[in-house]
Amino acid sequence: MSGSRIAALGHYQPSRVLSNDELSTMVDTSDEWIRRRTGIATRRIAATDESVTDMATAAAGKALAGAGLQPSDIGLITVATCTAIDRCPSIAAQVAGRLGIPSAVAFDLNNGCAGFCTALACADHSVRAGAARHALVIGAEKMSDVTDWTDRSTCVLLGDGAGAAVISAAEDTGIGPVAWGSDPTRGDAVRLVDDWHPYFAQEGQTVFRWVTGELPAIAREACHRAGLAPADLAGVVTHQANLRIIEAVVRQLDLPEQVVIAQDVVESGNTSAASVPLALSKLTARGDLPSGAPVLLLAFGGGLSWAGQVIAC
Ligand code: ACO
Repeated sequence: MSGSRIAALGHYQPSRVLSNDELSTMVDTSDEWIRRRTGIATRRIAATDESVTDMATAAAGKALAGAGLQPSDIGLITVATCTAIDRCPSIAAQVAGRLGIPSAVAFDLNNGCAGFCTALACADHSVRAGAARHALVIGAEKMSDVTDWTDRSTCVLLGDGAGAAVISAAEDTGIGPVAWGSDPTRGDAVRLVDDWHPYFAQEGQTVFRWVTGELPAIAREACHRAGLAPADLAGVVTHQANLRIIEAVVRQLDLPEQVVIAQDVVESGNTSAASVPLALSKLTARGDLPSGAPVLLLAFGGGLSWAGQVIAC
């Protein structure tokens, strides 16, 4: 075996839907402003007693069942998150305990919103190197825990959820080479600011300009490294931060009309490291992506950091 592939996906979202109209009773905003500037219509908010571990476990359990594997088959489990209140044991170790995964290496990875694509690359490298035959890669966030609900510039953006993928050793390559990196000169543009409790803060326009300027080239690099051009793609799943960003990046890639573009931000808001696996899992569950076709995953966030790869769905 020299390759690895995504064997199954799963996702979980809390049941509580927070609408723009409800938000406009909490802060000075409106459905019209939020939709026009971000495309977001709703987001899901976890219950007070619902943790990152709960959401990660729910998504991972579905992926594991979808892959038809036993817990003991998993040799590596990693959770991409930046909102885990529990630092030790890791969320990954807690998920392993909940799912009865007996002896996998289990660790969390924090690369902000680029965390899932980063963790996917690490799992792909580990599986291809023979360090594990099957891996669980999870993105899970409780952004509502780090939201300042009096700040209209951020509280309208964020949501909670989790997405997970089972990665399995394979003869062929189903996960392309990663294009990743970071720009520490813009390290302050997205932060979890710690006062009495960490909360999310960002320089929205700095991030917007950086992403729309840099992401198309990163997308082309990920395609090129997989031996493809953007026009060969069947789908694109970017980090779901803002519909205007997604549209601006897609426009610059000049993609054929039939390429499926994930727009889960409209119903889920920005779920940070959960957004790519959540959007991907929902698209595949609906049968919106042709089986085995190349799909570009592309994420960016605090650091500023980025990571992306072409996968065969
Ligand atoms: N409702 C109404 N008015 C608002 C709101 C709101 N919710 N929020 C801000 N405003 C006001 C501002 O006060 C400002 O008013 P002023 O002109 O009187 O000063 C005006 O709207 C414009 O504010 P901007 O911040 O300039 O609005 P902008 O068009 O830049 O949109 C946004 C803000 C949506 C955050 C945008 O900058 C953006 O999406 N940036 C990229 C963010 C991103 O991609 N982050 C990803 C990394 S972090 C992560 O994913 C977890």
